[in-house]
Amino acid sequence: MRVLSGIQPTGRFHLGNYFGAIRQYIELQHHDQAFYFIADLHALTTIRDKKQLRELTQDAALDLLALGLDPEQATLYQQSDVPEVTELTWLLMTVTQMSLLEKCHAYKDKIAKGLAADAGLFTYPVLMAADILAYDSNLVPVGQDQVQHLEVTRDIAQRFNHIYEKEVFVLPEGHVLKETSKVPGTDGEKMSKSYNNTIGIFEPPKKLRKKFMSIKTDSTPVEESKDPETCSVFGLYKLFANDEEQQALAERYRAGGMGYGDAKQTLYEKAMEHFAEARESREKLEQNLSDVEDILQAGAQKAREKAREVLDRAREACGL
Ligand code: TYM
Repeated sequence: MRVLSGIQPTGRFHLGNYFGAIRQYIELQHHDQAFYFIADLHALTTIRDKKQLRELTQDAALDLLALGLDPEQATLYQQSDVPEVTELTWLLMTVTQMSLLEKCHAYKDKIAKGLAADAGLFTYPVLMAADILAYDSNLVPVGQDQVQHLEVTRDIAQRFNHIYEKEVFVLPEGHVLKETSKVPGTDGEKMSKSYNNTIGIFEPPKKLRKKFMSIKTDSTPVEESKDPETCSVFGLYKLFANDEEQQALAERYRAGGMGYGDAKQTLYEKAMEHFAEARESREKLEQNLSDVEDILQAGAQKAREKAREVLDRAREACGL
């Protein structure tokens, strides 16, 4: 079974990326064929600075490896190192209906804001479909915001198979965990780089603490009882803590006498503890950047072999 997912290097990774996606990458990496990639071609639709793109791509690789992605088990590569995927994108584009792409949220949201969208943003879901279909992927771990793109991928694959009367592409399934599919940011909305409400995984401790302290809460006075279930601080704490720890904090909420500041401090400490090992291993990896480059190169080679096989199948089906 093939597990595959991609992540854009459009900024440093945040808790939404971690709980919504990266943690699942790591849990699923023992599957015989796990492929994970840094979606630098997708990032070109927002990052237009070459130095920044290179730095963010390297940071993405370091972050994923530090968080536990094991290159002995999973294949890690950079999207742009597999040109077969961009060729496949064209083949898919020829069977993709405009109306399908017009419904996609990234494009629709931009147009709704009165902004001009470029063709890259409009056809973004077709490149994503090629990313998935090029490797006969079965399972795609993602957060809720990517579910629509997975449906588009299945639509395109089915249409291609139908037109060319051949099972060229495998239909992928999403792997979306309900509890973590939409992690809230500091303002209670979905955590997202574009909403400026993110809490980074590897931010310096002082900055990180400030971020946790800035989480929006209601104005219930310290001495009064509080409802943990409607509080974003508790919502985030649940992602880190085991049942017993969750119960203990919920009791403190309900008993009254605990201010939100205390709850935020508890959450901050828990996050620091959770990522302590990853922080240490990231520092070590930073000393060996050429090893990271080697991992990406070896990954790309492996990914290309598979993508070539699928691309040849698709070309043959269309008569190329
Ligand atoms: P991207 O880079 O925006 O996000 C990477 C992953 O993080 C998840 N995520 C979240 N999950 C829960 N709560 C949140 N607040 C949150 N914010 C982000 C996303 O759902 C995603 O799984 N188009 C993709 C990248 C991509 C891709 C692919 C993914 C390109 N090709 C092929 C899967 C398969 C994207 O922009 O993700």
